[in-house]
Amino acid sequence: MRRAQSGSLSLRLLSFLRLPVKSLQTAPAWQALQNHADQLTPKHLRELFKTEPKRFERFCHVLGDLVVDFSKNRITSETVTLLFDLAAASDLEGWRAKMFAGERINITEHRAALHTALRNRSNKPVMFDGQDVMPAVNAVLDQMKTFVGAVRAGEWLGASGERITDVVNIGIGGSDLGPSMACEALTPYGGEVNVHFVSNIDGSQIAEILDRLDPVSTLFIVASKTFTTQETLTNAQTARQWVVDRFSDDAIQKHFVAVSSNADAVTAFGINPKNMFQIWDWVGGRFSLWSAIGLPIALSIGMERFEEMLDGAHAMDEHFRNEPLESNIPVIMAMIGIWNINFLDAACHAVLPYDQYLHQLPAYLQQLEMESNGKAVSRDGDVLTAKTSPVVFGEPGTTGQHAFYQLLHQGSRIVSADFIAPVVSHNPLGDHHAILLANFLAQTEALMNGRTDAEAQTRLEATGLSGDSLEALLPHTVFAGNRPTTSILVKRIDPRTLGMLIALYEHKVFIQGIIWGINSFDQWGVELGKQLANTILPALKDDASTDDHDASTQGLIDHIKRLRK
Ligand code: F6P
Repeated sequence: MRRAQSGSLSLRLLSFLRLPVKSLQTAPAWQALQNHADQLTPKHLRELFKTEPKRFERFCHVLGDLVVDFSKNRITSETVTLLFDLAAASDLEGWRAKMFAGERINITEHRAALHTALRNRSNKPVMFDGQDVMPAVNAVLDQMKTFVGAVRAGEWLGASGERITDVVNIGIGGSDLGPSMACEALTPYGGEVNVHFVSNIDGSQIAEILDRLDPVSTLFIVASKTFTTQETLTNAQTARQWVVDRFSDDAIQKHFVAVSSNADAVTAFGINPKNMFQIWDWVGGRFSLWSAIGLPIALSIGMERFEEMLDGAHAMDEHFRNEPLESNIPVIMAMIGIWNINFLDAACHAVLPYDQYLHQLPAYLQQLEMESNGKAVSRDGDVLTAKTSPVVFGEPGTTGQHAFYQLLHQGSRIVSADFIAPVVSHNPLGDHHAILLANFLAQTEALMNGRTDAEAQTRLEATGLSGDSLEALLPHTVFAGNRPTTSILVKRIDPRTLGMLIALYEHKVFIQGIIWGINSFDQWGVELGKQLANTILPALKDDASTDDHDASTQGLIDHIKRLRK
């Protein structure tokens, strides 16, 4: 068996552990793609568009109000065929069946990944451990409906008989990012209650929010699957004290509900178990906004609209499950991602929503992609020689254009990008939306075409430049182009299209995990830091002297103690 010693980055990073190695690159399907990449790489996207007049028709796919144009990626029909061969060699269809069937595909935690059951609008049985999970899913949806109805109608009253005007969701990671992103994205549908989010352990966040609120009309959702997360429990205790200071312990029943799988800890906190909304082990944190973790969304937009979001996700699930690979949008998206990362060496992936309401989408997708696939060890515990998740980042257009797009256009690295835009704005003000869409289209055209030196020269000459000054400026005004982008259009950002869009990305992440042979559903990488923070905390709190740490950490601890005096 080969041991990790040298070579790829993962090998170098993990070489001191001397773990066994898994080389995906030796598989015939992988090698065929590598050979194809060697032949195709010299070809520019401009050339591909010129030689294939039907390129847009060939690579643009439509599902309801969703249009996904892959044609500005550096692919040909042969690329896609070879990528499907790789998918087949990885038994993608077998793994897909296992996921939908509730098999324990999260092997390190011995859990299923059944987020699709949460939005199974067909209501057909979904079996897990010999039991249909749908009755439990539907019971929680009913519980949410009753609660959401009562709060929005002003029937759920606080301890002094006031109606609830503000809801604060206390959670972190998957118990925060999804609902927060969706509430923002669906702002035009919200209004009945104001929803706020506290996630950070930094007391400044909760302090600022509580400062603006009144305990008499504020309800807290403590959202934590485990109900052991330090940040969430610390914030929840602070909120609890804020309510108790105004009323008494008895008020907790009226001002706190919980979303969790840990009924004992919820009860110990003082929340009435009747006010707990159940989630299950088979719902992964970053895949959980479809469960009661989505309660803030339902409170903001109403239960009917929340269910429209589930409908949209279910439509995408059905498409992923039944559509042949050739026209299966999540499969194509995932496999083109594999092409960009593993064969064109794209280390970063930008998510660029041309919609202000989607401004939290990049942060949400950071967790979804990087916590799922930011791993260098395979399902079987072997060090992977292939690259896995890219660094995901992004900002809404056009704001990002004036910040980091310079690197996208002229930087020395290939960054792949998804451009996302609604065709219809919720705020049709003057020319705003037309200008926004013009920029959306212009950016992908520019990234694809670039600007040759001849074109750059013509432009400079037109401004009156010539001779040495023209020669000096010319290299700076050339754009290599050939940068891969995918354009995603939706009619408008509404609950249904948002549901489709998020499910599309979830499936993309799952598929890429299968190709790399990794478990996308665990997150051991967040453990070590948490554990060390717990060992450092006593030293910071008590001013006790410690010398248990490396020189840098110890030195910083000493400076903290000195500076806070
Ligand atoms: O960051 C690690 C993590 O376990 C995430 O996967 C999860 O979404 C988050 O912490 C919050 O966990 P919990 O809902 O159990 O508080």
